[in-house]
Amino acid sequence: MIEGDIEAVMVVERLCYEFPWTEGIFSDSLRVGYNCWVYTHGERIIGHGVTSVAAGEAHLLNLCIHPEFQGQGLARRLLQRLMTRVCNGEADTLFLEVRSSNKVAIGLYESMGFNEIGRRHGYYPAQQGREDAILFAFCL
Ligand SMILES: CC(C)(COP(=O)(O)OP(=O)(O)OC[C@H]1O[C@@H](n2cnc3c(N)ncnc32)[C@H](O)[C@@H]1OP(=O)(O)O)[C@@H](O)C(=O)NCCC(=O)NCCS
Repeated sequence: MIEGDIEAVMVVERLCYEFPWTEGIFSDSLRVGYNCWVYTHGERIIGHGVTSVAAGEAHLLNLCIHPEFQGQGLARRLLQRLMTRVCNGEADTLFLEVRSSNKVAIGLYESMGFNEIGRRHGYYPAQQGREDAILFAFCL
């Protein structure tokens, strides 16, 4: 991902999340050197993923695929690529948080070998109140 991709990334981001990241968050992620990737179909950006690495730990901060392209194994491929990148770096564990209601994402992470390691109660804002985050970890 480069700065010029952010407008197109935001289209996918807004379609994918009820509480999307802002342009500023993507811009800051690029500025501080997070691994920010886009998934392209021809010239079109149809997905993105962001990881950070610090002190031996990697965090998956964002992963999404345009709704028109979901269910074709693209998130699995993108995540695999992101994991290979951080695996080659200095991290030994990849952590992530996911909404407890997000069954599709949970299915993806479990099928890729992530283990549930905890829960943060009321971590996410929701349409009504708050929602728990489930924490997953993968030993790289
Ligand atoms: C989660 C998301 C990235 C998955 O993208 P995708 O490209 O459709 O996922 P894939 O096609 O690679 O599917 C990978 C696995 O996810 C699970 N999955 C996919 N669609 C599913 C569905 N409708 N129901 C249940 N599980 C499903 C399955 O385990 C699937 O593996 P399988 O095809 O071998 O059974 C996508 O739904 C998305 O962008 N959601 C909105 C953003 C989001 O929630 N991101 C995760 C934040 S933590």
